[in-house]
Amino acid sequence: MKIFLDTADIEEIRVAARWGVLDGVTTNPTLYAKVGGSYDDILKEICGITPGPVSAEVVAADVDGMLAEGRHFAKLAPNIVVKVPMSEEGLEAISRFAEEGIKTNCTLIFTANQGLLAAKAGASLLSPFIGRLDDINQEGMDVIRELVPIIEMYELDSEVLAASIRHPRHVTEAALLGAHIATLPFKVLQQMVHHPLTDKGIKTFREDWEKARREVAEMSAAPAGASSRQN
Ligand code: E4P
Repeated sequence: MKIFLDTADIEEIRVAARWGVLDGVTTNPTLYAKVGGSYDDILKEICGITPGPVSAEVVAADVDGMLAEGRHFAKLAPNIVVKVPMSEEGLEAISRFAEEGIKTNCTLIFTANQGLLAAKAGASLLSPFIGRLDDINQEGMDVIRELVPIIEMYELDSEVLAASIRHPRHVTEAALLGAHIATLPFKVLQQMVHHPLTDKGIKTFREDWEKARREVAEMSAAPAGASSRQN
């Protein structure tokens, strides 16, 4: 399963890229609002860090507006993917982008049927929002459970991107269900790295190593025969 970061924070993206685990990035207007500045500049910088797909979201509600924003984003870098919301206008825009060879990520998917429609319209990425469904007491992972086999059964040219991930278990479950991609907040990526026994094990090994080194140093510093005199 590919791992994307769900952030517009350049430093987080740089760290994940250094770890060698970054396959792409998703942004949205809320994530952009957290960092501010020029959205275009941020997108260009992200595209310079990762060669993987970088989602840039349109905010227009009408088809022409979506097309204008998306065409603009697509010129910023070759790895830009235009993020379009699931709606009647969104489907039309996705279909037009597909005709133009511009890749899209259909966002705000909450049912397998919405995912199926987005795939048929030509979206490269389908983003079901797991956490937001969990938030309203529905089983978010069910969308992944239903959508992945539909895409595979009909050999549709789209990847299922598990979005709105809240914790590491979401990642494991999405992976087991065959999601092609999961996009994670940086905090969840960090949580995946750590385990209390791993962290404790590292600390203990380091302490034992230092203790052994100290003992060796003390023995080699002691005058010859000191240990036999003590005995
Ligand atoms: C996906 O592309 C979205 O940006 C994101 O996963 C939404 O997550 P949220 O529900 O935590 O805002």
